[in-house]
Amino acid sequence: MFPDLKGFVKPGSEEEKLARQIDFSRLPRHVAVIMDGNGRWAEKRSLPRIEGHRAGAKAVQEVVEACGRLGIKYLTLYAFSKENWKRPKREVARLWKLLEDYLRKEDKQLIKNKIRLIVIGQIEAIPPSARRELERVADLTKDCDGLTVVLALNYGGRTEIVDAVKKICAAGEIGRLELDEDSFSRYLYTASLPDPDLLIRTSGEFRISNFLLWQIAYTELWITPVLWPDFRRKHFLQAVVDYQKRERRFGAVHARTTQHA
Ligand code: IPE
Ligand code: IPE
Ligand code: MG
Repeated sequence: MFPDLKGFVKPGSEEEKLARQIDFSRLPRHVAVIMDGNGRWAEKRSLPRIEGHRAGAKAVQEVVEACGRLGIKYLTLYAFSKENWKRPKREVARLWKLLEDYLRKEDKQLIKNKIRLIVIGQIEAIPPSARRELERVADLTKDCDGLTVVLALNYGGRTEIVDAVKKICAAGEIGRLELDEDSFSRYLYTASLPDPDLLIRTSGEFRISNFLLWQIAYTELWITPVLWPDFRRKHFLQAVVDYQKRERRFGAVHARTTQHA
């Protein structure tokens, strides 16, 4: 079950060596990414921070393509947190504009590659023109059955949990609903998505920054010092190879050891 990687990895390249190590029957179903380090990338080059965000679009393209080519079904990208409103107004405005322009340009490419776009977060508070573009592209791609790209925008993990509780209360479900982990998770923004198997964070920060707090209970974490605009398919393949070396025990013991208990 080796997918056709022609044109994606060059023969003899480091990428090809990595791709050959991948067991395609055990791919992560869902990969989530905290795309961090755009500002530092720009500052190192004495450029305005927005240039780092602009350069980050190339990394997005590489990771989306890598997921599509490998056959990964879900990719969630943390693009704007609820806390990111604390940044200078100008940076925030330009970030939303960048997203809007990106969607306007890339819509045909998404359709061509069968990519479905969905958004998680407090969508109602996203600036109207960016929101309109998001809704347009989400609607346009709703029947695409390849990779699902989930954009986390105006997203906060704690807010998501509080919003789920509010939805349950507003629907008058308290008392009637048999509340357990499964039924609760159906009220989260991610109701239709499996939990991430692998979470990648770039720029070397060892923190979660309020991302998918509920969903990452048993996710494997992979942190790299590479800044997001420098992140390429090679790094993504490294993360997948590394992920497949891990033993996911989910609190149990390895089957081999039970007989020695
Ligand atoms: C991540 O890069 C992009 C967003 C949070 C929108 P940063 O802008 O956080 O870059 P650093 O962390 O300042 O380098
Ligand atoms: C996390 O990055 C949010 C996104 C990548 C969208 P931040 O740069 O905002 O996180 P902190 O401030 O380093 O925790
Ligand atoms: Mg940052």
